[in-house]
Amino acid sequence: MEVLILPTAEEVAELASSVIVEAVSSNPRAAIGVATGSTPLATYKKLIAAHRQGEVQLDGIRPFMLDEYLDLSPDHPELYRNVLKRNLLDGVDVVSAELRCPDVFATDLLDACRRYEQLIVEQGGIDVQLLGIGSDGHVGFNEPGSSLGSRTRIKTLHTDTIRDNARFFDSLDEVPRHVITQGLGTIMDARHLLLIAHGATKADAIAAAVEGPLSASCPGSVLQLHPHATVIVDEGAGAALAQQEYYRHAWANKPEWQGL
Ligand code: GLP
Repeated sequence: MEVLILPTAEEVAELASSVIVEAVSSNPRAAIGVATGSTPLATYKKLIAAHRQGEVQLDGIRPFMLDEYLDLSPDHPELYRNVLKRNLLDGVDVVSAELRCPDVFATDLLDACRRYEQLIVEQGGIDVQLLGIGSDGHVGFNEPGSSLGSRTRIKTLHTDTIRDNARFFDSLDEVPRHVITQGLGTIMDARHLLLIAHGATKADAIAAAVEGPLSASCPGSVLQLHPHATVIVDEGAGAALAQQEYYRHAWANKPEWQGL
């Protein structure tokens, strides 16, 4: 795992977007796992700017959703597919039909989960999976206690997550209680995991994920087992890391040929 502590959230977004730009530059049809929440928004802005300025053509990417709410109407603005359309897809000229997502409107939701797993495999897997982290250490919507080998499935949200995400809704009661999320095992199948976080509220979750014991109690800790995981945080989110000094030293001395 490579841990990069950068001075600002802006620089986190800049570096994260550069990883995706590089992946798409070498493969215009790259499969990009797209996350939601507020953290990736700045990265998406950078990607849109890069696309608009002709630095890279992002309109050929194959976007795969990380997770999605259940029980919202198809036109609800907080349905993650709508969030992604507004904040990324429209800006990089990718039509909504290109977004690969679990079918949260299927009558058989268990089958929808299985079909999403199958789709990821059929399409050759995900090249770069962007991830945020919840304050309780969840990635995607894999709440504490999630099996480290879990696959795409229905989850019940933790009360902390419902509270955290209430800011996007008119009231706490409006936040869906259930979701479909890629499992931790599904996420681990991606070829490159890119976890980003900023702000002091994420410091404990980042420390637990990066340096804590490998445990279902902190789902983000599963990244410790991934052969290519990059964690990019700002000073606030990196503040509780015990090995900060080493991570900075390694970044400052990183051979240029190595890349991310
Ligand atoms: C939601 C998403 C996660 C995201 C988390 C953190 O629960 N399902 O993918 O990482 O929120 O959100 P934020 O980036 O807004 O802190």
